[in-house]
Amino acid sequence: MSELQLFPLGTTRGEDGELMIEGASVTDLVNQFGTPLYIYSENTLRAACRSYTQPIDDIYPNSTVMFAAKSYLDPTIAKIVGEEGLGVETVSGSEMQTVHRAGIPPELITLHGNNKLTDEIDQAVDLGIGHLVADGTDDLQLIAERAHRSNRTANILLRLTPGISAHTHEYIRTGEIDSKFGIPIANGQAADAVRMALNLPGIKLIGYHAHIGSQIFDVNPFKGNVKALIDFSIQMEAETGYFPEAISPGGGAGVRYEEQDSGLSPESLVKEICHSLIDYLPDKRRPHLILEPGRSIIARSGIAVYTVGTIKRIPEVRTYVAVDGGMADNIRPALYGANYTVVLANRDTSGGPTETVSVAGRYCESGDILFNNITLPKLNRGDLLASATSGAYGMSMASNYNMALRPAVVMVDKRKARLTRRRETINDIWNVFPAED
Ligand SMILES: Cc1ncc(COP(=O)(O)O)c(C=O)c1O
Repeated sequence: MSELQLFPLGTTRGEDGELMIEGASVTDLVNQFGTPLYIYSENTLRAACRSYTQPIDDIYPNSTVMFAAKSYLDPTIAKIVGEEGLGVETVSGSEMQTVHRAGIPPELITLHGNNKLTDEIDQAVDLGIGHLVADGTDDLQLIAERAHRSNRTANILLRLTPGISAHTHEYIRTGEIDSKFGIPIANGQAADAVRMALNLPGIKLIGYHAHIGSQIFDVNPFKGNVKALIDFSIQMEAETGYFPEAISPGGGAGVRYEEQDSGLSPESLVKEICHSLIDYLPDKRRPHLILEPGRSIIARSGIAVYTVGTIKRIPEVRTYVAVDGGMADNIRPALYGANYTVVLANRDTSGGPTETVSVAGRYCESGDILFNNITLPKLNRGDLLASATSGAYGMSMASNYNMALRPAVVMVDKRKARLTRRRETINDIWNVFPAED
């Protein structure tokens, strides 16, 4: 495999061996914007949006693809996914207001959350967003009360836990009964919630949602999820006469971080989901299908670039190469043991000497190892390292740990780069403290 296969579409090496994203030199971008730097490719992002919208429009036109903002959101990303015809799934007032400000129509915004704040519910009701996804009966009652109080009707999807165990890391598995998310089907709580939803003022029950987890490569859990939602719909229809107008099997498609990952193409996932839905649905009913991909829309379009600093060799033990970022801009390796494909970005040393190293972050945790035991060319201080498939759950989970300043983000479109999020400054940190007397 080419070392660049997992990088954004059309990534090449320039004449001097430097990495080129959509024809823009990573070295030049670093000279302009510094490191750590997240670089997104617009072309790759748009292609990923179409890998969902094209097959779904063909097979199941009564559908909407909602980009999961938690994977990474800024106003530029919101505008691009909106131009590609996607809605946006949000989980906080800030995400919701950001996509609204970026011009996503309210009916194409969803608000999730296992503990929505009263204020967030009020904002969602005021904006008249497409759906609020009630995560439990407490949440449902609060939404109903707030909407009723302002004489509005909130459109509700009920988030269910279908009892499906997907083969992924336990921190990103959400379809099992013992989960902080959703209402279990198996023990009758989901049926109770439907009966409650059908009788509460201030809400309209639009349908059912179940998201089973993230970074899943096998289509069977997705099909099982669709079946569970339809079986439940049929059971509830027999009991109450209510059949959902919308069915949402969430997101969760896995992406390739390393050569050996199998991957799951959005095209085949969409086909499998749509065909199982059509197979399981009674009669010719076609409720609105809502998909919520995040990672598989944005991961490949983004790379993270770091500058090499200190190199520490412990003979016969390990070589630590420290970079100027780490768990404060990408917590996935520390949180889930996530792996990445990494290349030297400022020069090409193909055929030259290599070394197995652990790339350490600069933050004050021994667990702040970004890329463990990877083979790289012999490195020097000042070299640039770039990790592929870094567009999802990296910057969006970034923190100010150690009062780190969160990195800049640029979007490249056919050689042209624009800053879409500036690097934080110390004033961004100090601004949260009350002024000194
Ligand atoms: C409700 C819901 N929908 C969609 C997603 C997006 O998942 P992914 O990025 O794996 O596609 C998530 C991720 O946690 C989620 O919780």
